Formats: sequence, C-alpha cells, structure tokens
Amino acid sequence: MTDDRPFRFTIPIPSAVPSRVDHHIERRLSAMKGQFYDTQAYEAMLANEDLLLYEVYEIKRPEVAGELLMGISVVHPGKVGREFFMTKGHYHTVLDTAEIYYVLKGEGFMVMETPEGICAVEPLSPGQVLYVPPRWAHRSVCTSRREDLVTFFAYPGNAGHDYGTIEQKGFHKLVMEGPDGIEITDNPRWRA
Ligand code: 6PG
Ligand code: NI
Repeated sequence: MTDDRPFRFTIPIPSAVPSRVDHHIERRLSAMKGQFYDTQAYEAMLANEDLLLYEVYEIKRPEVAGELLMGISVVHPGKVGREFFMTKGHYHTVLDTAEIYYVLKGEGFMVMETPEGICAVEPLSPGQVLYVPPRWAHRSVCTSRREDLVTFFAYPGNAGHDYGTIEQKGFHKLVMEGPDGIEITDNPRWRA
C-alpha cells in the first residue's frame, strides 16, 4: 500500500474529509459504554438510537519508529446528560510517544493526564496547535452546540493505542455543561 515517495493530500474546509483516506473509523454511542458519567442518560439515549459520536480519517504509514501516522478527528456536537460528546481517549502503547494536534474547526477541550495522575485540560479553537507530550493520555471533547470539533493529528508510527487503562479508570476530569456554561469537574468515579 505505502510507497516511499513523497506525497501530498488536501484537507478541504469545511468538510475536512482529507483527499486521501486509508481508513475511516466511526465511533458510536455503543462503543463508549461506561465512559460517560450519567449512565442512566447513556442507557436511555442508546435505547433510542446508537448515535455517531465521532469519526477518524486515517492516512496510513508503516507502524514503525521513524514514520508518522496522520489523520483527521471529527467529534460531533452533543451531550450525554450534561457531559459533552468526546473520544474514547487513550495512552499510546509506547508511552514515550508524543502527538501534535492542529485545530481546523469548532470548539472544545483536550483532556489529558499522566499515569502519575497529573492532569491538564486545554481549550481548543481554530488555528491552535496542541502538543501532547510523551506519557500523556488524551481525549478530545466537542463543546460547540452546532459545529464539529475537527483536528489534524500526527504521531509516531510505533505509538500504538492503549484504550484499556482509560476504559478501566476513566479520566480524572470531566467536561460538563453547567448552569453558567462549560464546567471542568473532577470525575467522582475515577478509579485508582
Ligand atoms: C491517535 C490520535 C487520534 C485519536 C482520535 C480518536 O493516537 O491515533 O490520538 O487520532 O485516535 O482522536 O480518538 P480515540 O483513539 O481515543 O478513539
Ligand atoms: Ni493518540
């Protein structure tokens, strides 16, 4: 599939679907069981419809050190209870691998933490670049009412994805809609 000649692709705005897509991922509500705080709201929504929460358009390269994997992440607007739609979130299997995000469209936050429990929640808006250092798990959250949160990302080919740790423990911080707007709250269900 991949050859070693330089290549280009285009990310047209507003669609943000790259002109080259090697793999398209669709994540639905059913794939996020146990991730949202309000389990009752989650079950009620899922019983109604298995909504599409986010999509990833990947541009593949060999998954080896020295290569970079790239793509577009599109988180759709919505909420489960008071909690905004978000990605599963993950550590990289090779913990010492960083990631760059460039925000193309929308509003949101990147929720991040280290295995030692150090947390960071960075706001995301168009034109911003976020550097996720090695060892930081990361989850994108869309807080716009109408617009997708669209980011271009790149990370090392050998990074891999560790979803298990986050599925078990969750993130320390949650992004919720409160009476006075967006709230970053502690996750009462975070498990050590
Ligand atoms: C990665 C990137 C990024 C991420 C998507 C979807 O390591 O591949 O962080 O592309 O995969 O934003 O998020 P989840 O992988 O957490 O579902
Ligand atoms: Ni990642």
